Amino acid sequence: MDLDDFQWLLTDEGQTLLAEATALVAEGAAPLAAGSALRRTTTPERAATALTQVELRGRAVAKFGDLAPRMYFTPAALEQATRIRVARHRAGRAAAFGAQTLVDLGCGIGGDLVATAEAGIVCAGVDLDPVRVAVARANLAALGLPGAVQVADATTVDHSGFDLAFADPARRSGAGRSSRVEDWTPPWSWVEGLLARDACVKVAPGIPHSLVPEGVEAEWVSDDGEVKEAALWAGRTATVARRATVIGVGGLATITDEDDPGVGAVGVREVGGYLYEPDGAVIRAGLVTAVAAGVGGGLVDAKIAYVTADRPFRTPFARGYRVLEPLPYREKQLKAALRERGVGRLTIKKRGVDVSPETLRKRLSLQGDAEATVVLTRVAGEGTALLVEPM
Ligand SMILES: C[S@@+](CC[C@H](N)C(=O)[O-])C[C@H]1O[C@@H](n2cnc3c(N)ncnc32)[C@H](O)[C@@H]1O
Repeated sequence: MDLDDFQWLLTDEGQTLLAEATALVAEGAAPLAAGSALRRTTTPERAATALTQVELRGRAVAKFGDLAPRMYFTPAALEQATRIRVARHRAGRAAAFGAQTLVDLGCGIGGDLVATAEAGIVCAGVDLDPVRVAVARANLAALGLPGAVQVADATTVDHSGFDLAFADPARRSGAGRSSRVEDWTPPWSWVEGLLARDACVKVAPGIPHSLVPEGVEAEWVSDDGEVKEAALWAGRTATVARRATVIGVGGLATITDEDDPGVGAVGVREVGGYLYEPDGAVIRAGLVTAVAAGVGGGLVDAKIAYVTADRPFRTPFARGYRVLEPLPYREKQLKAALRERGVGRLTIKKRGVDVSPETLRKRLSLQGDAEATVVLTRVAGEGTALLVEPM
């Protein structure tokens, strides 16, 4: 979709066609049939533009929920956009920091911009790509939100007049996702400069801790159990060194290095009646021992992200399991033990051991009606299998 196609889509004629395309898809028309129905009144290109938008809106529900059917997307920009729950958390933090104005330096189709405007912050977005600028502008308008968007180069635009600068550098090149920070656009060297002011930068969750500049807070965020990103909070927005924030249907919870007494204080201990599997954001943030302290437990091994305790605890930062019994770790004996228990369906959890759950499940040739969960890990350096049950 080029800029002319998109601008046409916003005209009355374009909106009428988009509404027709939406209705056809909602009625269950197959893409080919919907395309030929639309081509009765318009060109093949315009029919395709409208249908693609309907298809993208459908895909975008996973990220934008009930906002998606009113928004506009391009395939690549949708892929790069921040999911709205994560963007809303970030915008909430920006508002709590006291930002009244924010500039989004590379706003794409406006995933973060929308959440910022919703939070009541006066926002401006820039992007190099004129189509994305037009789409972001249309998204704010479609959602009845204020904000200005223009084509500009983030690396040269003057952002000094804004309370907070935000950036979400593109990590995809023509060759796919890049983990080399100098390949980001804008690159890491520019990000480092931005981190000298009050700023927030979204980065890949795999960012090495050693790359985070002194005095900058790194926050790892998971949504529905999946680690989605890390955000670097710089200048006066930094509150701690490391933070893990987990967002779920029940709301949001956050834990920081200030909650962490360290491995020396929680220690490594024998497996108790309960096992906890920390959320990925907690693991990335290096806060497993903070979770161990929170459940009054310890680690099963100094190097493995499993926590064990004697008592059941509900925590948003880990999934809890009741430990039912140890099972043999060796494959042949494990197979026999599962046969004895009539286990036909097995969930295999593993950490710190070189096992492929798919391959192992096949080799165990499970039989029976029972369902079970087995954890394979290392305890005091030894391969260990534990029969557990989710709490
Ligand atoms: C990962 S996307 C941003 C996604 C956005 N946060 C969202 O939620 O929709 C990064 C964006 O930065 C833009 N970009 C990259 N280099 C830029 C530069 N030097 N100036 C302005 N925009 C740039 C890209 O065009 C792209 O749209």
